[in-house]
Amino acid sequence: MKISVIGTGYVGLVTGACLAEIGHEVVCTDNDAEKIRILESGGIPIYEPGLEKVIPKARKEGRLSFRAKPADSVGAGDAIFICVGTPPLPDGGADLSAIDHVARMIATEAKSPKLVVEKSTVPARTGEELKRALTVYGRNSQVKFRVASNPEFLREGTAVGDFLHPDRIVVGVEDEIAERQMEEIYRPVIEKKFDCPVHDSKCPNGPSPTWLVTTINSAELIKHASNSFLALKISYANMVADLAEKLGADIGEVVRAMGLDPRIGSSFLSAGLGFGGFCLPKDLQAFVHLAERSGVDFSMLKEAEKINKKRIDHFVEKLKSMIWVVRGKRLGVLGLAFKPNTDDIRFAPAIDLVHRLISEGASIRAFDPEAMEKTKTILPQVEFAKNAYETAKDAEALLIATEWPEFRKLDWEKIRDSMARPLIIDGRNLLSPAEMKNLGFEYRSFGRPD
Ligand code: UGA
Repeated sequence: MKISVIGTGYVGLVTGACLAEIGHEVVCTDNDAEKIRILESGGIPIYEPGLEKVIPKARKEGRLSFRAKPADSVGAGDAIFICVGTPPLPDGGADLSAIDHVARMIATEAKSPKLVVEKSTVPARTGEELKRALTVYGRNSQVKFRVASNPEFLREGTAVGDFLHPDRIVVGVEDEIAERQMEEIYRPVIEKKFDCPVHDSKCPNGPSPTWLVTTINSAELIKHASNSFLALKISYANMVADLAEKLGADIGEVVRAMGLDPRIGSSFLSAGLGFGGFCLPKDLQAFVHLAERSGVDFSMLKEAEKINKKRIDHFVEKLKSMIWVVRGKRLGVLGLAFKPNTDDIRFAPAIDLVHRLISEGASIRAFDPEAMEKTKTILPQVEFAKNAYETAKDAEALLIATEWPEFRKLDWEKIRDSMARPLIIDGRNLLSPAEMKNLGFEYRSFGRPD
């Protein structure tokens, strides 16, 4: 099928590249000309493992191209995936102005029938507004528009594998024609008929994804309800961790046993600095906003958000209980990205933590394997180290803020000997308390006995 993808951020670029990988002819576009220039010259503007294989291959085989003018791409696709940003507004609601803008553009530029697919995360009932906008702005053209909602469940860092081997594909449609078109788009993924470019445990013989056809409103709700539930689960684990800390229990042991119950499941129960990124915090807020506007008291989600914000306070209190005064102290920070395997620092707990420590007068030296370039632009006060060892040198404490697996394998004896004080505050429970103690560190983590 011929497909246009509007917006080449984390979602749009992965969607466009993977749709091309499974055999479609895809044109991607963005109103950020610099992004398109990088893509056209063979670069990849974001760090997302797997894209470095998929994009060059699809371009070489002539199935993937980039256009600088979004309007030009409208004619290129029978289906148009909208992957533009829906950032948070000051009141917590989602800013849908980019969707409105794209709807107007599609409506005025389209010369043939289009299936317009909402991929961006949007609150329920956006599909209705999108359809209305297409009808109003396109009233002179007589072109037929169909709307579908196809929420993404891509995790940054594993997004290519998540697209090609999903657990489920949700499509919200209004009629059978749209359903059939969506099925045609995803058939290679449903039937697992493509040469997988990334080696994933689910490839090539893993289970086929569940194909779920719903109303558009349900599809939109599924996305917000899923991300909010994940956020709720993390905040719940963080509260249990705080309690475990007071009672002398070990959160690792507690969640391990809890997770063995299939009704609970073991993922998203890791305690520490809490959740960040451009999805969970904003989707949680937007869901609360939607519930309030709909007259539903969903205050348990507000509580999850409040708990998450307090994780930074909790971390700083822990640090202060060890070093007393923060002002004038040199602190090393390991990890800046909101989670490992990404360079994304949007709403990263690590960044909030660094801001807070700088405002309290600490001098910060930090290291992250991928996220330092992005951090430099927003935190010029930070000294960026070449590696973890340089970060720790002469520091009064080393703070672990992102659980990059490679941090586990560091030469901790070398680190201990280079620090002004061998103190570690592990905001991601990455290391073993017993091992760190044996190595001669003062070590504090979350929900585990000191
Ligand atoms: C999240 C969802 O997991 C995806 O399913 C969804 O498609 C995506 O948002 C989206 O809406 O686009 P992502 O933002 O990539 O994906 O990140 P997650 O892996 O969900 O992690 C979010 C945050 O929670 C990170 O800061 C992570 O460190 C934190 N986290 C995660 C915890 O603090 N504890 C956990 O147990 C798990």
